[in-house]
Amino acid sequence: MAKNLLSIKDLSKDEILDLIKFSNSFIDNEGNFRKEDLFPDKTVANVFCEPSTRTKSSFAIAAGNLGCSVIDFNIDNSSVQKGESIFETVDALNLMGVDLCVLRHPESVIQDLAEALPKMVFINAGEGSISHPTQALLDMKTIIDHKNSLDGLKIVIVGDLDHSRVTSSFVEGISNFSIDSLTFSGHPEMCTKYQNPQIGHYEPDLDKALDNADVVMTLRIQYERFDQELNLDLETYKNAYQLSSEKLGSAKGDVIIMHPGPVNYVEITEAVYDSENSVIREQIANGVAIRMAVLSRFLSG
Ligand code: CP
Repeated sequence: MAKNLLSIKDLSKDEILDLIKFSNSFIDNEGNFRKEDLFPDKTVANVFCEPSTRTKSSFAIAAGNLGCSVIDFNIDNSSVQKGESIFETVDALNLMGVDLCVLRHPESVIQDLAEALPKMVFINAGEGSISHPTQALLDMKTIIDHKNSLDGLKIVIVGDLDHSRVTSSFVEGISNFSIDSLTFSGHPEMCTKYQNPQIGHYEPDLDKALDNADVVMTLRIQYERFDQELNLDLETYKNAYQLSSEKLGSAKGDVIIMHPGPVNYVEITEAVYDSENSVIREQIANGVAIRMAVLSRFLSG
């Protein structure tokens, strides 16, 4: 296994399946996360330079459950505000004895940091629009929990795909498996990178895209990543791309509905979010188990 988890491409298919299986061992029969004092001598720093609820909190909970000391680094109250760079910041944590850095950053800095600080382990918790490998792991775990395997599935991803690090890591992750089909849908100007038949089929008509689907992943519009103000009529957008009960009629009866969060209820209706087919809240819980598995494996070196 690689020393750092910078990309889902750092993991082989066997390593992905091992991490998913291992994550299940951290959930007891009542569905609670086990607390095991496995790494009392290890310190994990959570360095988030972009907002987060799920990823940041689940890494902190996972590290605490494993007996690690956790530094919940607050960038807004740090010397970054006095002009210190991310390199100096993480190096300072390294010199103080932090063993593993969980990093979310809007730019591609993690590879350079990992090379500059070889004693530290780095886990990518979100790199701009580029990658989010632990989200891909928890998404694949959630699908396997319901469908037993990723093989043979018809998977649809709908929304603002161009700005989605969730999509890019998920697509890389499932490329290890023999899925039946991968269909991308959404506003053409939000799916420019995904109109490439080499990675999947682009279908702008969501009703057609959803035909016979086993898995539907829906994504919010990431307003914060557009260079210019988005001139969009939301009602027109919702008519075309919002995942509603009516649109889901053409999917399989046991289709599962996924969303990495946060949810804006533009891309999905509240009825679909709350439906029996929705596994969105399971994804959030699976984040803790997957991150316990990732931290355990990468802290063990
Ligand atoms: N899915 C995800 O990365 O959510 P947060 O931004 O809340 O961490």
